Amino acid sequence: MKIIKLVIAVLFCIGSLIGMASCSNTEKSEQFSVTENVAIDFSTEKNVLLLPCEDKGEELQATIWVDDKKIDTYIIRIAQNSVDYWTPVDLSAWKGKKVSLKLNKAAAFLKEAKLADTFEYDYNEPFRPAYHFTPPYGWMNDPNGMVYYAGEWHLFYQFNPFGTRWQNMSWGHAVSADLTHWQHLPVALYPDSLGTIFSGSAVVDETNSAGFQTGSEKTLLAFYTQAERGGQWQSLAYSNDKGRTWTKYAGNPVLKKANAPDFRDPKVFWYAPTSKWIMVLAVGNHAEFYSSANAKDWTFESGFGANYGSHDGVWECPDLLQFGEKWVLLISNDRVSNVRHSATQYFVGSFDGHAFTCDFAPAEQHWLDYGKDHYATVSWANAPADRKIVLPWMSNWQYANDVPTKNFRSAMGLPRKLTLVQDNGKYLVKSYPVEEIQVRRGKAGNVPDVNTNRIFDVPTNSAFEILLEIESQSAKTVGFNLKNSKNESVEFAFYLQKNEFSVDRAKSGIVNFNATFATKSVAPILAKPVHTLRIFVDKSSVEAFLDGGEEPFKPRISTIFPRPSSSLAT
Ligand code: FRU
Repeated sequence: MKIIKLVIAVLFCIGSLIGMASCSNTEKSEQFSVTENVAIDFSTEKNVLLLPCEDKGEELQATIWVDDKKIDTYIIRIAQNSVDYWTPVDLSAWKGKKVSLKLNKAAAFLKEAKLADTFEYDYNEPFRPAYHFTPPYGWMNDPNGMVYYAGEWHLFYQFNPFGTRWQNMSWGHAVSADLTHWQHLPVALYPDSLGTIFSGSAVVDETNSAGFQTGSEKTLLAFYTQAERGGQWQSLAYSNDKGRTWTKYAGNPVLKKANAPDFRDPKVFWYAPTSKWIMVLAVGNHAEFYSSANAKDWTFESGFGANYGSHDGVWECPDLLQFGEKWVLLISNDRVSNVRHSATQYFVGSFDGHAFTCDFAPAEQHWLDYGKDHYATVSWANAPADRKIVLPWMSNWQYANDVPTKNFRSAMGLPRKLTLVQDNGKYLVKSYPVEEIQVRRGKAGNVPDVNTNRIFDVPTNSAFEILLEIESQSAKTVGFNLKNSKNESVEFAFYLQKNEFSVDRAKSGIVNFNATFATKSVAPILAKPVHTLRIFVDKSSVEAFLDGGEEPFKPRISTIFPRPSSSLAT
């Protein structure tokens, strides 16, 4: 390998979040009793019940009763052998009431459960990213219900409030003024008698079409799939207080379909020419479009995609975005080949309020990202200036439940702006991080030109951004590693004759938690004399964007490796 010229242009340090550990002011009040490690009974003015949990513990059924009324049954891994993390149960609505938690089976550590004033999130655990969104604690997957309203970007997300593995699907909630700094808010939607709360979307009801508005604030409408307890169907909730509290519509579910085991992830938008809401759903191997004037009564319009694009695994998390005359349909596919597994594809075409017509040939496949940790990508509704901003979940169903974090699992990728560009008459999508992320930059550093074949010792601060320019004069391969003092590295390589770029995390640290993790991601690139590369490193992830995202058809790369800090942090 010969590197003719390789310049690291700038290196930015991005400060990490400060955090505090675990639980404070814990106390067992006189009313607190634990019976045979199978039941807890108490009445308290405290805010939180802290439950001792074990990551790989058995899934127990925990039923909560308040004043002898059953609230719900959740699946919680109460510790049997050792305590790996604490799960908070929010008691704020039940102060002074008689609360009971009953397990279907005794758990040795239930006696350690305690009451507390607060539960503070542990932001200091080793693999917690500094500038990527993570849940305060617990499991997270898809971004949900993203909507911009009254100066706030709302991010809801698939959340397990009772553990660090997928279960008890609910909508977690956070808001941001700049897409970069996030404030956590209480869980927005918990499971109910119609099922757990799967993925979906939210919109501003500008015209009060659903009739829920009561004051001067516009109503936010949330559409979500309810699942697991006998099928999948779509439900509706609304908020008249800027998303702080949500009321589930009494007529739920608003949309059911017979014989459709996979019928989910409603993405809703307003289609002005027909004055109707359009709902896009993933239905097994295709997408379906429904319309409604009032957000409650839905009519089937059409289906698309059974013979288009990739059909490895089921289709999930659709989105339909308008770019002038053109429309882009995003679809996430679970199980896209053994190597990539979870990934997001897209189709460009047109939409007339009833049906989507695709410009691509049926066999064509186009992907938003060639990394392994980019899934369930959907956009913010009602974004100012009609910006098309999307957010990917930065993990993969192959190993998401196994990653070696402690109090939380999974982060979101950076928010990206999508644009449509033309190549030889064909429209394709490019994606690039939103400019807002630059506010997180700290001090810049320059690394001088290097003309040798070498490995760089990059300062292994917790989080940083690297801007690189790579000019190849005659090299066939150009590569470099990000490496730490433990000799763990992420290897980047340009294969200039094959026009490929790869990111290899096989030696990046702890990789043995799942056999499918230690992979090399490869993406096609355009032949160019100079490539620019922008790499975001954030403790347990690496995102690489090539050439300003400007090579849409031979994709700009964004490869993400959420893994333990030992590879890149000190
Ligand atoms: C995609 C997905 C969705 C579903 C959700 C459940 O990652 O499988 O289709 O609504 O996750 O958590």
